[in-house]
Amino acid sequence: MTDIAHQAQFAAFRRLFPAAQNQVYCDVAARGPISTTVRDAVAAHLDVRMSGRVDKQAYFDLIETTRDRFAGLINAHSDEVSFTKNVSDGINAVANALPWQAGDNVVICQSLEHPANIFVWQSLAQTRGIVVREVAPVDNAISADAVLNAIDDKTRVVTVSSVSFSPGLRVPMARLGRACRERGIFFLVDGAQSIGIARMDVAADMIDGLAVSTQKGLLGLYGMGFLFVRRTLAEAMRPAYLSRMGVDLGTAHEASSGTESSFRFAAGARRFDVGNFNYVGAVAVNQAMKELQAFDAAALESYVCGLARQLASKLEAVGAPLIAKSNDTRMAHIVAIGHGIGATHDSVDDSSLLALHDAFEAGGICHTIRRGVLRLSLHAYNDPTDIDRIADITARWVKKTAPTIRAAG
Ligand SMILES: Cc1ncc(COP(=O)(O)O)c(C=O)c1O
Repeated sequence: MTDIAHQAQFAAFRRLFPAAQNQVYCDVAARGPISTTVRDAVAAHLDVRMSGRVDKQAYFDLIETTRDRFAGLINAHSDEVSFTKNVSDGINAVANALPWQAGDNVVICQSLEHPANIFVWQSLAQTRGIVVREVAPVDNAISADAVLNAIDDKTRVVTVSSVSFSPGLRVPMARLGRACRERGIFFLVDGAQSIGIARMDVAADMIDGLAVSTQKGLLGLYGMGFLFVRRTLAEAMRPAYLSRMGVDLGTAHEASSGTESSFRFAAGARRFDVGNFNYVGAVAVNQAMKELQAFDAAALESYVCGLARQLASKLEAVGAPLIAKSNDTRMAHIVAIGHGIGATHDSVDDSSLLALHDAFEAGGICHTIRRGVLRLSLHAYNDPTDIDRIADITARWVKKTAPTIRAAG
């Protein structure tokens, strides 16, 4: 595809998102907006429910199409994908199905992880005697060296976010994946922030488990997620929750119980499916993934991350403080304005940053405050006009508050 054809494709995509047109929408790290086509697909689904003429087989077909689509997106097999509520659900499903021995450990950089990937380990420390080995962040990111240094012969799991929720930097996944595979350690990734934006290849990155939700970069709804578990590992795991969807019922009806005492788990990660599915959530994300998959995945990533670099570079040029500069190789689709990571989830201590936040709000720049920084996160519906609007507002703020920035700097 030529550059012009690519640009036309991104422009057409942007037109599907009202939220990207009546403001500068830079908040996919909190949640993605839905497109008009996703809204229409959901409305059509609800119309059928309202009519009372539901074809349950069509629902199951939709689930399998959606499963296949997600598997294609991450280079997995469909049997390696199950449906969850969200990231926390997926991580819990894995953590509670592993054969822990007291004293086993999980290596994690808790200070940069979202709570979705924290409490389950703390709970297992209390109930199963596992040890949570904390890795300190290095320069606001999870360092592969630090993680590898923390591994010992009792390490059973290494868990990281592919991109941190704040300040939004990438983790070197392939390096960690390879090291874990060599040592027989389960490599579990929280892909909430990168899925749908940065390419995800579970085979290339040697990922054993991947949990995502659908309301951010996948541009679907809340209350739905996917869990990937590598087939050979899944087949050695016993899910903590088991229902008919996780059991191989052969050709029997979904609600038949079969031979209860001699049940067989469903293939691969399908054993983690629990009961009826979130059909409306599947309708939404199936449609959204179809639209995302119309792009070449590498072109989409390079467009979005390219915009983020452009934004960082314009903000640097006007003198804004950034956590990662535009030439930082750890940058993905998130730009964080601020002086450093703060302790509280949704506030900034610095009054000048608060003034910039207010200026963004007044100027229609949708973003969030996370851990002491202003977080601007981009997707394929953004374009260079968004970058210019943010840079203009920031330049005016710098002129007004420059002395404070230098003092805080
Ligand atoms: C890295 C990361 N993990 C997980 C979540 C959310 O977890 P859950 O889907 O369980 O609500 C978020 C944001 O909401 C996130 O940024």
